[in-house]
Amino acid sequence: MTYNESIKNFEINENPLILAVETSCDETAVSLVRGGREVLADEIISSATEHVRFGGVVPEIASRMHTTAILTATKKALEKAKVTLEDVDGIAVTYGAGLLGALLVGVSFAKGLALSLNKPLIAVNHIRGHIAASYLADKELKPPFIAVLASGGHTAIIKVKDYLHFETLGATLDDAAGEAFDKVARVLGLNYPGGPNVEKCAKDGANVIPLPKMLKGDKGFNFSYSGLKTAVINYVHNSTAKGIEINKSDVACSFQTAALQTLIEKAIRAAKKSKIKTLSVCGGVAANGYLRENLKKECEKNGLKLVLPEKALCTDNASMIGAEGTIQYLNGNFEKIDLNAKASIPLY
Ligand code: KG4
Ligand code: ZN
Repeated sequence: MTYNESIKNFEINENPLILAVETSCDETAVSLVRGGREVLADEIISSATEHVRFGGVVPEIASRMHTTAILTATKKALEKAKVTLEDVDGIAVTYGAGLLGALLVGVSFAKGLALSLNKPLIAVNHIRGHIAASYLADKELKPPFIAVLASGGHTAIIKVKDYLHFETLGATLDDAAGEAFDKVARVLGLNYPGGPNVEKCAKDGANVIPLPKMLKGDKGFNFSYSGLKTAVINYVHNSTAKGIEINKSDVACSFQTAALQTLIEKAIRAAKKSKIKTLSVCGGVAANGYLRENLKKECEKNGLKLVLPEKALCTDNASMIGAEGTIQYLNGNFEKIDLNAKASIPLY
């Protein structure tokens, strides 16, 4: 029987052990996740330091680093989890969205494993993975809940209706929150990765620089980070042209406050309007301390339950891919061996 024929005959284990692979950007990540809720091992080998001197991720370098790191990450994860490849029930892998060359390394590796072990191959949408990190953070969490997604490529408020169905309540009309952080970092001369460095820089600053309020007066749930980003860039350039020395920490703090206040406000309003009492945050920007502290305060004030995954589960990791992979596995969503990586796919 060929692999593609055997797909129909795979038996489903109700408490599966999923080996998950994530290589969409500059992290080579492999995790072992039991029952979609318990992380047995979470290995990450990052190539971030290789990209610093270029000011951003260089796709070719990221892909090459994945090829050298993926086997080590897998071996380490298996050792840490004290399991063998034979114990695994399915292989989950991010197939999109992301850097094509980088994704291809993970997808090819996962296909090789699935084929040689004759075990189900599961394709995971990276954004669904980010949302599924919430199930690892709160083992009792069940839909419906509101997911606030803020990553490098997306910013959206999503209603998670059940494990498989979503509805976008609002999204960015232009730049994503993470993208704005990265661009502001660049204009301030801060190193890649921009987001964490803006946060660090903001710690010594005050929110004293007037910046435009995003989509002022808007009663909906959309975002626009482009105007805010441009205002910061103009402020820095105008000051420099006039020979005025800028206080980088004040700029970082003012930008961070403006960028995240609206996100918090809209998330709370979306939860209240949809009468859903649970809110979760996901994506790299959810690792931001200002966002975490203030969202917590606002949720308490408004009687909402907040699911706040630890920082390592917000930035890219394979455990979230294992959590989402388990949902797909339990629904029998197995892939044929001709699965391909895709640079862009629908949001979820
Ligand atoms: O989810 P993620 O790791 O990768 C994508 O799927 O995009 O998100 C990366 C984004 C980057 O733009 C990065 O600057 C931002 O998340 N980020 C942060 C922080 N940590 C990561 N932004 C603000 N504060 C942080 N602490
Ligand atoms: Zn991500």
